[in-house]
Amino acid sequence: MTALDGTTAVVTGASGGMGRVIVAELARAGALVVAVARRSERIDAVRAEAARAGAPGTIEVVTGDLASLAGLHRVAEAVSARHAEVHVLVNNAGAHYADRRVTVDGLEAHVAVDHLAAFGMTRLLDAPLRRGSARVVDVVSDSVRDARQVRFPGPARPPRVTAQDVADLRRVNPADGFVPFEAYARAKLLTVLAGRAAARRLGTDGVTVNAVHPGLVATELVDGMVPAGLRPFRWLVRAALLTPAEGAAAALRLATDPLLDGATGQYHVRDRETPLPAVADDVDLQEAVYRAGDTFLRDG
Ligand SMILES: NC(=O)c1ccc[n+]([C@@H]2O[C@H](COP(=O)([O-])OP(=O)(O)OC[C@H]3O[C@@H](n4cnc5c(N)ncnc54)[C@H](OP(=O)(O)O)[C@@H]3O)[C@@H](O)[C@H]2O)c1
Repeated sequence: MTALDGTTAVVTGASGGMGRVIVAELARAGALVVAVARRSERIDAVRAEAARAGAPGTIEVVTGDLASLAGLHRVAEAVSARHAEVHVLVNNAGAHYADRRVTVDGLEAHVAVDHLAAFGMTRLLDAPLRRGSARVVDVVSDSVRDARQVRFPGPARPPRVTAQDVADLRRVNPADGFVPFEAYARAKLLTVLAGRAAARRLGTDGVTVNAVHPGLVATELVDGMVPAGLRPFRWLVRAALLTPAEGAAAALRLATDPLLDGATGQYHVRDRETPLPAVADDVDLQEAVYRAGDTFLRDG
């Protein structure tokens, strides 16, 4: 990987399957990595492993729950207080919930964790990202192209979202007709849409914003999607998937590959730029999602 000495990288979901690899690899390349996690002890092993591998970079930990507005603001403030410049932000935290949950702020949980956490980190770190002419990478999911959990032959079904839906983020993913994987897909699509609006604004200072699907990767997130009756065979499912290191490579590439200098507003499936459904190109919708997130961050 390109040498990253003298750079600062922020990684959310740093305790997870892919997050741990992203943190370790950025540190190995010489970056000072701010690992954002709910529990710092889950980062201790990453730090120890990086040290054993002789990684020259430093790993700092900022703890916080990105599902709440208060947590999101606290994490962003902690990062900004310590770092005037951020050169890489990997919005990797994410979750899939088997049932409908509502956060303390009244958001459906996928909207909070798979969308607002990424939007909020990017928005609230605006100044350090601009000073660092940063690369922002949003780890999303190919469910933004097809929200069917099982892809039987037939036309893809992208998640549906309208400007009216997003006018109030609390109305996204309502109880009526709730399907967990579609709710996850819709939240990831909101991240792609808002990311494109953010790319336009941040581009004036050389900041790029891209989204990536890492492939199907053997992590806790996927373990949680295996139906209860099939849990004893989870190892079989895992064996068919990419390793966390193979999955993490996609975000690392977008975060560091010199060949991608200046690339922005793109969507990649692993290492290939991939077209998105028309809904993702709707500039009015991109702006509506951006405004809704901005309002929510300010007023709750
Ligand atoms: N695995 C796949 O096949 C796949 C496919 C497409 C996209 N993705 C995306 O890849 C990203 C990484 O996921 P993964 O597969 O590596 O899964 P993972 O091992 O479950 O990691 C998810 C990470 O997100 C963190 N997180 C969850 N809720 C959070 C919250 N409220 N506040 C702060 N952090 C929170 C988790 O923290 P804790 O350790 O505290 O739980 C964990 O570090 C996610 O955005 C996911 O949607 C994964």
